[in-house]
Amino acid sequence: MQIAIDGPAGAGKSTIAKKIAAAYNMTYLDTGAMYRCIAHCVLNQIGDRFDNEDDIIKIAQSTVIRFEGNQVFCNEKDVTQEIRTPLVSRHTSDVARIKAVRDLMVAQQREYAKDHEVVMDGRDIGSVVLPDAQVKFFLDADVLERAKRRKIELDEKGNGKALAEIKNDIEKRDTNDRNRSEGPLVKVADAIVVDTTGKSIEEVYQEMKTYIDEVCR
Ligand code: CDP
Ligand code: CDP
Repeated sequence: MQIAIDGPAGAGKSTIAKKIAAAYNMTYLDTGAMYRCIAHCVLNQIGDRFDNEDDIIKIAQSTVIRFEGNQVFCNEKDVTQEIRTPLVSRHTSDVARIKAVRDLMVAQQREYAKDHEVVMDGRDIGSVVLPDAQVKFFLDADVLERAKRRKIELDEKGNGKALAEIKNDIEKRDTNDRNRSEGPLVKVADAIVVDTTGKSIEEVYQEMKTYIDEVCR
């Protein structure tokens, strides 16, 4: 069993993916965290030089990413918190547009799915990583609501930023993710669209559960 969840930033993918994985005894794989790890390593190793593709590819090749429960390890260092900063968020789509980086990540994601029942979330899961997934979802929500959700998270972490700036960052990232040539954010024809605007996590979960149960039956 494989479940693919794609959609723009803040649509609720990872929250719902974790809930589905727990309810159906499946493993959750956060593919966004993998691209975030590469951006984090680039910032640490060569700084803000995201036009330097050759060095970024070398960094991606030498980076070992490992998940343990809700923690993310990058070259055996716990980076769970560091990869969620606004700086890393802003630069992740800069590494994610590079074909060689995507090829490396996609290969690891497919390898993982070979011997796990997975719920995977990202941008290219239904289109590239798991094209044969039994259930594919495309989660979406109004951009202002997505920005408000992010603001609450950032405020809680003491990383407060103005709503307009968060919305602007999200819009830029979505545009980059939608328009790149490799593994763009796309709704595939067989994906079920779930608009999460104005819906609670539980409402979204129940809506998705109905579809999953139809397939599982
Ligand atoms: O949580 P949020 O939706 O803000 O971001 P994420 O899922 O952690 O993904 C961060 C970035 O990684 C995205 O904006 C994409 O640029 C990239 N990404 C990707 O290209 N392909 C994926 N399968 C997952 C993430
Ligand atoms: O993974 P993605 O970027 O798509 O979104 P997320 O990190 O799962 O959700 C972003 C924030 O929105 C989280 O703080 C969720 O608790 C919240 N959320 C919500 O308020 N209502 C929903 N229906 C879904 C998510």
